[in-house]
Amino acid sequence: MVLDTGFAAARYAVLILGSYYLLVIGHRILLHPLRRYPGPLVAKFTDWYGGFHALSMHLHLTTYQDHKKYGRVMKHGPNRLVFNSVQALQDIYSNERTTKSHIYLLTVQANGIDSIFNAVDRKRHASKRRLVGRAVTKRAMRMFGPIMHEQIDVFACKRLGLDIVGHLAFGFALDTQTDPTYRFIIDGIAMGNYRANSFMQLPFLKNGAGGDTTATALSALFFYPSHNPVAYRQVSEEVRGTFTHAAEIQGGPMLSDCRYLRAYIDATLRMSSPISGTLWRELAKDEEAKGPLIVDRHVIPRGTQVGVNIYTLHHNEDYFPEPFDFRSERWLVEDSSELQTMHAAFATFSAGARGCAGKPMAYLESSLVAAKTLWYFDFQTAPGDVTGVGIRGKMDGRGRREEYQLRDVFSAAHDGPYVVFRPRGDACKELGVRMSQSQ
Ligand code: HEM
Repeated sequence: MVLDTGFAAARYAVLILGSYYLLVIGHRILLHPLRRYPGPLVAKFTDWYGGFHALSMHLHLTTYQDHKKYGRVMKHGPNRLVFNSVQALQDIYSNERTTKSHIYLLTVQANGIDSIFNAVDRKRHASKRRLVGRAVTKRAMRMFGPIMHEQIDVFACKRLGLDIVGHLAFGFALDTQTDPTYRFIIDGIAMGNYRANSFMQLPFLKNGAGGDTTATALSALFFYPSHNPVAYRQVSEEVRGTFTHAAEIQGGPMLSDCRYLRAYIDATLRMSSPISGTLWRELAKDEEAKGPLIVDRHVIPRGTQVGVNIYTLHHNEDYFPEPFDFRSERWLVEDSSELQTMHAAFATFSAGARGCAGKPMAYLESSLVAAKTLWYFDFQTAPGDVTGVGIRGKMDGRGRREEYQLRDVFSAAHDGPYVVFRPRGDACKELGVRMSQSQ
């Protein structure tokens, strides 16, 4: 008798819950203000669509494929619209009326204190941004410069040094210059040191976007030249022709004048943007009374989150013809309108008040690592290594061999590449001297 009553109550509860969900689904598909927007059916009534693909770490690829199917603007969640145009990029991110979506509040740490990254209130964010702005001024970067140089030299030197130290420490040859097996040790040491050092200098990075993004950018920088011999040759000739010795390689006009180097960094960041997802924004609460948000000529209903998917925009053929070709030379065209279009669609650092606060530092760091490495070494992908490479025939967007594969976990995760470095002439001797002087 007790069992029967319990069973009936459970059935009743399932019935009520089922009817509730059916009503919600029906409303979201048939009556919701965004109902006329195309998009995957499941995404029309639940955030689980995005959730599932985020858990699978390929939401950037899914979003790209969905745009191909549903067009320039689509529904990607019950209250979410994602756009694929430069106009939308400007209307959403370079717009004083928008702020980060309330979902950023979910990333606030347990102590309840928000950071520059997840402060949603515009005034609160503005005061944090002013503070961070001081930390990444040109002067602060000049002060940080020696630490950055030292760490980059350590990075360049370690592969050679570790083979010697390996004999002493482990009693056997690590052979990192010829065998990829133990190279993870070097990367671990270099990145670990580098990150610890950076966090000590710039504590706000711990909660922000700086550390992982840079690691991804540097890995991609090593991936693409190995797969694009012409770009590699152009950049290495430029670096070796511009500087007369390594000490000259520092932030300043000589480095900024390296056009091929900058083109190769931009080409890398376009192809495999370290943040490749959709950065959700919404109309700030105190703007709601002043009229709706307009994005790419669409009047956005209140409560809607909007965004542009960086990976998709970077592979939009209206802005980047043959979008999956690396082609660093596309950034060197003489036609200024073509160049303007590409710059307008280049969103790796996002834009507006919430755009990357560390952009100059990211460029400086990437340029120094690339230039110094090319000064001291020749390098190529380790023979037979396919880490980070797409697998031909895969239909989930990971079938392109020439594209460095990222896993979309907000700031992207990545594997490889494993690269073999060969010391270049006498340049490496200079590195040994610099290292011993700094110890
Ligand atoms: C290639 C390297 C980098 C890329 C691609 C990158 C990209 C981005 C992007 C897309 C955002 C916006 C995130 C969002 O809207 O949620 C962002 C924000 C931010 N980045 Fe970077 N970043 C890089 C390196 C750095 C570095 C080196 C620093 C520090 C020196 C830094 C500091 C920040 C900070 C503090 C924010 C939050 C800005 C705010 O909300 O006002 N980033 N970054």
